[in-house]
Amino acid sequence: SCANSPLAAHALAEIMCNRRPGGIRCKAGVGSVGVVVSLDEGKKPSASVKALMDLTAQDMGRVNELILSKAGSNVELIPEIASHLISSGGKRLRPMVTLAAAQMFGYRGEGHVKLATAVEFMHTATLLHDDVVDESGLRRGKTTARMIWGNQASVLVGDFLLGQAFRMMVDVGSLDALDVLSGAACVIAEGEVMQLSAAKNLETTEDEYLAVIKAKTAALFSAAAEVGPIIAAAAKADRAALRSYGVNLGLAFQLVDDALDYGGNSRDLGKNVGDDFREGKVTLPVVLAYRRGTADERAFWKMAIESGKTDEAGLDKAIGLMTRTGAFPDTIGRARHFGGIARDALAPLGDTPQRAALLDVIDFCISRVN
Ligand code: IPE
Ligand code: IPE
Ligand code: MG
Ligand code: MG
Repeated sequence: SCANSPLAAHALAEIMCNRRPGGIRCKAGVGSVGVVVSLDEGKKPSASVKALMDLTAQDMGRVNELILSKAGSNVELIPEIASHLISSGGKRLRPMVTLAAAQMFGYRGEGHVKLATAVEFMHTATLLHDDVVDESGLRRGKTTARMIWGNQASVLVGDFLLGQAFRMMVDVGSLDALDVLSGAACVIAEGEVMQLSAAKNLETTEDEYLAVIKAKTAALFSAAAEVGPIIAAAAKADRAALRSYGVNLGLAFQLVDDALDYGGNSRDLGKNVGDDFREGKVTLPVVLAYRRGTADERAFWKMAIESGKTDEAGLDKAIGLMTRTGAFPDTIGRARHFGGIARDALAPLGDTPQRAALLDVIDFCISRVN
């Protein structure tokens, strides 16, 4: 069986020592595997994942153990590739949201750890697939798996992780949770395909863009949040609240991420800045700058995005136009708007530390851009 084979020893050692550049500490012990970012410095105190990390630290220790064991296989290439990506950490935002959302409704069992792990595996699988689709070279501060082992192996290992995710869901035995997470898996794929169809098309509307990110990104945040109340057998209204929180947090998250693809720096992101531009991906900063541009500027966008005639100077020019047209601040404004909806979604719920931590995450996601 592929379920319980240990990871290769070197891979495990690497996972113990999280090496993502940009400020992740290396601590001893499995409990530190899910280590997160230190991008919070200089932000307002609420713009932090610290409260969420503290509340979920114990459970995340178990999630991280499960991640290691479920990434194992006797087919050596599988743990090798999986651990390459897993060992570089990532923020582990989605599983922490699942855990907090279960805790919040008094869940006392073990199922939330498996669901959180399944959520992170779905995320990891989509990253492996996404870097193939996007032909990306850098992920979590490391050369992408596809550059080392090739596109075929990356796709197949993504499939393995997705399979493992579903086995864990079945293990938990909640048909409702399975329904929500399997639905999200389909919607994510639909989102990626929708995006493919919109590629290099500057006539893409803001609504079409929003539909894409709702599917490719927000669906998983939404499912991650909703399975918490589901497994805790919370009321329908609580499920709806967490679902709405998740989808709007996800929209805000991707909007900010799309702004950072132009305005951020590679060290903090662990990804190459300008990937979207080189790829001709029509994200909201492009949609707005193109629509608001002069005829000359629109000709520039056509050449860069549709004909792919892009270089470093082109990227600089694009960034300049996004600043001049207000595309940057307005993309962030949109993110704040959805962040506000996420905040209000949790307003009717009881005042718990978990709710407070989930609210901080909204500020954290938006403040990534400052
Ligand atoms: C990356 O998500 C994919 C997007 C939705 C933009 P994260 O930024 O949460 O990735 P990791 O897990 O922290 O690396
Ligand atoms: C993020 O896609 C969503 C998924 C992985 C499904 P992107 O392509 O926008 O994200 P990055 O920039 O590669 O992280
Ligand atoms: Mg990508
Ligand atoms: Mg992509």
